[in-house]
Amino acid sequence: MDLKALLGQMTLEEKIGQLIQLSADFFGESTELTGPAQSWGLSIEELSSIGTCIGGKNAAEIRKIQEEHLKIDRNKIPLIFMRDIIHGYRTVYPIGLGLVGSFDPELVGECTEMAAKEAAAGGLHLTFAPMVDLVRDARWGRVMESCGEDPLLASTMGAAQVKAFQGEDISSRDHLAACVKHFAAYGAGESGRDYNSVEISERTLRQFYLPSYKACIDAGVKMLMPSFNDMNGIPSTANPFLMKRILRDEWHYDGAVISDWAAIWELTVHGVAADMKEAARLAFENGCHIEMLSSAYYKHLAELVREGVITEEAVDDAVMHVLRLKDELGLFDDPFHQADDARGEAMYLSPEHREVARRASEESAVLLKNDGTLPFSEDVKKVAIVGPFADEQAMIGPWSALGKTEEAVSVTSGVRALLPNAEISVHKACGYLFDELDKSGFADAIEAAKNADAVIICVGEPAHYSGEGNSRTDIGLPGVQADLVNEITAVNKNSAVLIFNGRPLALSNIYKNAPAILDMWFPGSEGGNAAAALLFGRANPCGKLAMTFPRAVGQCPIYYNRMLTGRPKKGPEEVYKPFTSGYLDCGNLPLFFFGEGLSYTTFEYNAMTLDTHELDEKGSIKVTVSLTNTGERAGKEVVQLYLRDKASSAVRPIQELIAFKKITLEANESAEVCFEITEPMLRFWNAQNEYISEAGEFELFVGYADHRYISDEFTLVK
Ligand code: NOJ
Repeated sequence: MDLKALLGQMTLEEKIGQLIQLSADFFGESTELTGPAQSWGLSIEELSSIGTCIGGKNAAEIRKIQEEHLKIDRNKIPLIFMRDIIHGYRTVYPIGLGLVGSFDPELVGECTEMAAKEAAAGGLHLTFAPMVDLVRDARWGRVMESCGEDPLLASTMGAAQVKAFQGEDISSRDHLAACVKHFAAYGAGESGRDYNSVEISERTLRQFYLPSYKACIDAGVKMLMPSFNDMNGIPSTANPFLMKRILRDEWHYDGAVISDWAAIWELTVHGVAADMKEAARLAFENGCHIEMLSSAYYKHLAELVREGVITEEAVDDAVMHVLRLKDELGLFDDPFHQADDARGEAMYLSPEHREVARRASEESAVLLKNDGTLPFSEDVKKVAIVGPFADEQAMIGPWSALGKTEEAVSVTSGVRALLPNAEISVHKACGYLFDELDKSGFADAIEAAKNADAVIICVGEPAHYSGEGNSRTDIGLPGVQADLVNEITAVNKNSAVLIFNGRPLALSNIYKNAPAILDMWFPGSEGGNAAAALLFGRANPCGKLAMTFPRAVGQCPIYYNRMLTGRPKKGPEEVYKPFTSGYLDCGNLPLFFFGEGLSYTTFEYNAMTLDTHELDEKGSIKVTVSLTNTGERAGKEVVQLYLRDKASSAVRPIQELIAFKKITLEANESAEVCFEITEPMLRFWNAQNEYISEAGEFELFVGYADHRYISDEFTLVK
């Protein structure tokens, strides 16, 4: 398509139309204006030039809107249809925070490709994903969508998603364009409250928060979304430091930019724009090409051009970003992008797709504690499944596109399918909301537990306690669920606790009594089958935590790559030490660490060898780690390599993940895992905010967080 010629034939108003995104309910018959379009006071001509649409429930609806649109658009420019596909389209896989804990970028890619295929069949052209905001505060509900607290993990998993959504060519039938979000540091909102202000140093921003967005850009992401929050006083949508200096000047990003939902209007609510006209100018000048669902561009951009505040060349440039994307999607040749509900229906929840979702749920689950209770024997005769999630299908998670709870497998269904001959009793016992304090259902559950050979206690938080806008100040198990766990485990030690959650929960009040704890996250459509396979040993847990679990909410924000203070607390964690950095009433360490997760087998690390202990700017160090599966069954282990810079011009984290590899080992099998360390891996934002490495000594270890299995040292010489 000759985009320049196309642009040349467009009026200013038509160009501005390309920069506006409306929801599917704005678009009706080509001859008639309906609901929201009417209330916005849009004319048919104005509606005809709109560039993109958020939503559309299936291929039939999207085709219809596209057809009607092409009838009335003088320039015959197809709409792009966009939507959030966060952890699955119709076949739902685990929430992001769980899935990245598989530490398996290929599996993340497999799930993402499946979602892309389903969504593309359903008519979508672009997804608002991946979400790669670094997260350190479990109170924030959106941790559930994220790739966790570590920059390397978030970068690896963000890039894997971009590549899988987009494939080699976004015009191909099974792929979509991706949109990385929310730029930047949305996850650092004060006190874990959604949309809240972010106060952050440039060094922390660059060192920890920016790499994951950059990794997605390097992976070729087609679109970027600035975040709602203000950062150091300036909302991202109008933040020249982020949107111009970093994004364009330093990273040379030349893809499209879309505002978050009504975020341009919100500039007036933040109080950085006096009115919508100023909001339009600020967002536009800072490189926001498309306005999602507010009317600042529609109402004021043309006026700003006529007044000479914004040049028409700048509008042309923004429009070209939108047209180029349409062209790359192949929409000028096929405005429907081969959307086909029949193809979709054949895929949604097909055995192949369910298999991917189940495997992903199994590999995302994290075994947090096990005194040997798990796996249960398949020979059990009587099983009691207890708790509000016992037979709950609403555990697919808060944000699948078209996921249906009634299509999910509950724990009870999963266990029944696995043990068709066992006697299974189900006892909800209580609710899972904060204010559900009724314990009258406990008695039956306790009675059943007493008489059971195995007890599965299914507790957690409801899906709507995490996700957008859902922050919490108490991140324990809501209601009386902790009492349920403690009272059941008191009568039967052959009990395992399954947790369903969108965030790290503070589990101190059940930790001691629970013989085994398996975190399922929100596991998706196949959650119950995955849980059953894990509980009864058909699958071996291998997930690791992508985010630290605090002992108490008061420890938040808490994360493994913290800085070393001048007065670190030494010695037993529980003991308070005056004039050291700690709490009177709680240790500093979390209940569960980033990178932690047990297996039904055991791995022993035998040795770590470095082929040289001196590194210069051109060389590399080959690190070989050898380990053995010392248990009795095959298992998967994530070998994690951490670094500590022993002395540097600015304080460095106590440990940083610099590489990881996941391997499978049969019982008694040994393996060597190799890593390569080069000088760029040692770079950081130094005291002068330069990204460099500094000569000196470094400590290297394998293990996770504060757990060092084997360590060694090397020197960087310059
Ligand atoms: C608001 C959310 O912050 C963003 O992540 C999402 O993509 C948009 N709404 C569109 O649904």
